[in-house]
Amino acid sequence: MNTIATTATGHARRHAAFVAILAALAGLMFGLDVGVISGAQQFIQREFGISDAVLEHIVSSMMWGAAVGAALAAWLSKHFGRKRSLILSASLFVVGSLVCAAAWSPDALIGARFVLGLAIGIAAFTAPLYLAEIAPTDRRGAMISTYQLMITIGIFVAFLSDTGFSYIESWRWMLGIIALPGALFLLGVLSLPESPRWLVLKQRAADANAVLQKLRGDPEAVRKEVADIQEQLRTPQQGWQLFLQNRNFRRSVGLGIALQVVQQLTGINVVMYYAPRIFADMGYATSAQMWFTAIVGLTNVLATFIAIGFVDKIGRKPILYAGFVVMAIGLGIVGLLMHVGMASQGEHLLAVAMLLVFVIGFAFSAGPLVWTLCSEIQPLKGRDFGIGVSTVTNWVFTGIVGVTFLTLLNNIGSANTFWLYAAFNASFLLFTWALVPETKGVSLEQIERKLMAGERLRNIGA
Ligand code: BGC
Repeated sequence: MNTIATTATGHARRHAAFVAILAALAGLMFGLDVGVISGAQQFIQREFGISDAVLEHIVSSMMWGAAVGAALAAWLSKHFGRKRSLILSASLFVVGSLVCAAAWSPDALIGARFVLGLAIGIAAFTAPLYLAEIAPTDRRGAMISTYQLMITIGIFVAFLSDTGFSYIESWRWMLGIIALPGALFLLGVLSLPESPRWLVLKQRAADANAVLQKLRGDPEAVRKEVADIQEQLRTPQQGWQLFLQNRNFRRSVGLGIALQVVQQLTGINVVMYYAPRIFADMGYATSAQMWFTAIVGLTNVLATFIAIGFVDKIGRKPILYAGFVVMAIGLGIVGLLMHVGMASQGEHLLAVAMLLVFVIGFAFSAGPLVWTLCSEIQPLKGRDFGIGVSTVTNWVFTGIVGVTFLTLLNNIGSANTFWLYAAFNASFLLFTWALVPETKGVSLEQIERKLMAGERLRNIGA
């Protein structure tokens, strides 16, 4: 029986939602950063007269920065707290985007985008962690999906803003404008409460009580939750040591890595970073490329609502199964159309529609759920380390997918490239069945207990 699952009522629920939305704004920063570069590329290239190879460095320096930021974030959030880490991230974000806008050379741009990456890496690690720690059990999946929703909104807004600034051909405005939401985020983050779990970790149970009281409302539930966290902290063992000593922890870290590899090998970022290029390959002119890219962004946003609505009702696994099926079919048909060649207008539109089907499949499943699961499966003592490792993995594989796509297109052709990703998605059904636990409605403490008792990974949830 689940004795320590938490719920919240009335005023407390509204307060918790406010806190969650604010924290989830970190996702908006993440998304703006992902989306903003696709539209800016051609103008940067024109102004500096640089090769594709240099341009690739400009694009990818952010991904490597994010990997480093995510690696540092575990240490930062453990020593200085979740809140201060988010403040640092927001500050770096503002500075990074302003320097991007003012960049005097390709190298300056590479450096500034690396700083921006640091900011995003820290946020990508800290925000889901923080959200999982403040969320009541019955709302946890939805809260973390809200974070993903913010990522998709950020991407969409960046696609739109790029389209707007493309009329004045100003990549500096494209890259600089995001400092504004960054500054607003910084202001918002200053008002967040610190994570109750981190407060207990730092022997500040009274502060944790006060925060939880506001978030949950029910003093009895708060007392139980604090007692439960304290109970778990009795044998303090952390991160790396735990990883070396404990086989069960190595399993959850391994699962977190696998989940993020799977998320990236769905091929989503092929679409997010190269949508205009894909539409060009399908035979569309520039303005259509821009508009279809914006539609991709909007579709990505809308489909994420499906996850938010269903993740805590239907559960994680059924949604993942459905998502991988939809993604495999979508990409499979895109590949087929590319293989036979598209002659009619109808076939062209079908290809666009299938790409959108793929994006929908990702947005309601692997997009939000991978982040959700990664923050749920790690035991508290090693949570920072575990989520840190999986977040770094996310960025390293974003980088790998990003730097191999054009090479794949040129070497095996577009049909085979899409079929390859379709095959990956089909194989992830097996992965989900064999390894992914159903964590719907199960408290983090209960998941931890089962993991540490040596239960098979797919059984550590319900
Ligand atoms: C992924 C990103 C991706 C985004 C698209 C996120 O969950 O981690 O790599 O760009 O979804 O919406």
